[in-house]
Amino acid sequence: MTVLAPIDELKTLVEPGKVLTDPTSLDTYGKDWTKHYPPAPTAIVFPKTIEQVQAIVLWANRHRIALVPSGGRTGLSAAAVAANGEVVVAFDYMNQVLDVNTVDRTVVCQPGVITEQLQHLAEEQGLYYPVDFASAGSSQIGGNIGTNAGGIKVIRYGMTRNWVAGLKVVTGKGDILELNKDLIKNATGYDLRQLFIGAEGTLGFVVEATMRLDRAPRNLTAMVLGTTDFDSIMPVLHAFQNKLDLTAFEFFSDKALAKILGRGDVPAPFETPCPFYVLLEFEAVTEEVLDDALGTFEHCIEQGWVLDGVMSQSEQQLQNLWKLREFISETIAHWTPYKNDISVTVSKVPAFLKDIDAIVGEKYPDFEVVWYGHIGDGNLHLNILKPENLSKDEFFAQCAVVNKWVFEIVQKYNGSISAEHGVGMTKRDYLEYSRSEAEIAYMKAVKAVFDPNGIMNPGKIFAVQ
Ligand code: MLT
Ligand code: ZN
Repeated sequence: MTVLAPIDELKTLVEPGKVLTDPTSLDTYGKDWTKHYPPAPTAIVFPKTIEQVQAIVLWANRHRIALVPSGGRTGLSAAAVAANGEVVVAFDYMNQVLDVNTVDRTVVCQPGVITEQLQHLAEEQGLYYPVDFASAGSSQIGGNIGTNAGGIKVIRYGMTRNWVAGLKVVTGKGDILELNKDLIKNATGYDLRQLFIGAEGTLGFVVEATMRLDRAPRNLTAMVLGTTDFDSIMPVLHAFQNKLDLTAFEFFSDKALAKILGRGDVPAPFETPCPFYVLLEFEAVTEEVLDDALGTFEHCIEQGWVLDGVMSQSEQQLQNLWKLREFISETIAHWTPYKNDISVTVSKVPAFLKDIDAIVGEKYPDFEVVWYGHIGDGNLHLNILKPENLSKDEFFAQCAVVNKWVFEIVQKYNGSISAEHGVGMTKRDYLEYSRSEAEIAYMKAVKAVFDPNGIMNPGKIFAVQ
């Protein structure tokens, strides 16, 4: 009997040509959008069916070879980085929409379906897939589920978790499980579907997902307002929330705006310079709603919270206002930012902001700090830009020193060290600032149940046991 080397055996499990080992593919598929760890996978495998994924997982168990899932690779926590000779399982060829049910308002997706593809499909049906973020054009549904992706509409629609009706998964042991069967009501014990959402591929692979859709929003209208200072942002939120159902409430600093305007392809919202800006959005369904919005804007000016503002009057203007916020991440990527993605409950944001802002001013006096984020749901993105004269490694090392102070404040406010970007490798050493020792022990025990041989994305969320 001929005994095949593991990688040759792997090649027999998928279609011809669907295992790649050339340097370009290893580099491309071995990383996400983070720049912390150099990619070093052994091979990339592209399954086309659930049975092939199962065969790959069983093969990995037999040979004790670590697997890393790869979707759109837009992650920001190195959860999809293969830095230690792992085999990357890429879902690019499992990218079909399998069913659309307009009565249940659900879409059955393979994991490689691109977020935007689902959004467009929903639109064609007169419906709406509400989870949205700047990388929707390349991120995949499987990856969104793995990280419980959030984005710009969470204040109204919640995270990806809210939109997952059912899942098919291949566990780390190689079992195929069908979780929740797309039911709205299902009181039959543990909801294992929820465990796989946000698990970063550490328990198994999502191989099919039924996603829910909502009714399409009507006449979305955005305002961009310039606030007097950091402290004025939350009173503005509360004033608008008292009058309107907001679909978004985002913020960004003058530094973020300067970078966006520096691109030359996005118009300024208005001339008045302001230290911070908020972008809020609502459905302008009646004249009364518009009057409420304008009345609240005037109230915010009278209170001294807002210095200037603009409201979209057309779809084009709505898109242009959104570019001010949505282009930030991509634009500042040029400065290799050190990214923090922290959150607290909304009521704690004002005090939390004061403490964080003070520590940032004290610990990062020489670095350019860019603030933006989903402040309406309590999620702030704190980005430190790399000065040109520092190497990436030196810069990241200096930022890591400051983490302790930032995360101690997060802990003091019972917040999260990763609101929506996941833990991956970049935040795993700080998990105890958000999760208790006992909780982490339970999490590890859960992993051991689904993945007894530790082959599913090891070293992500927590260090290898
Ligand atoms: C965003 O809100 O723009 C995304 O989470 C990406 C980022 O934080 O850079
Ligand atoms: Zn974000």
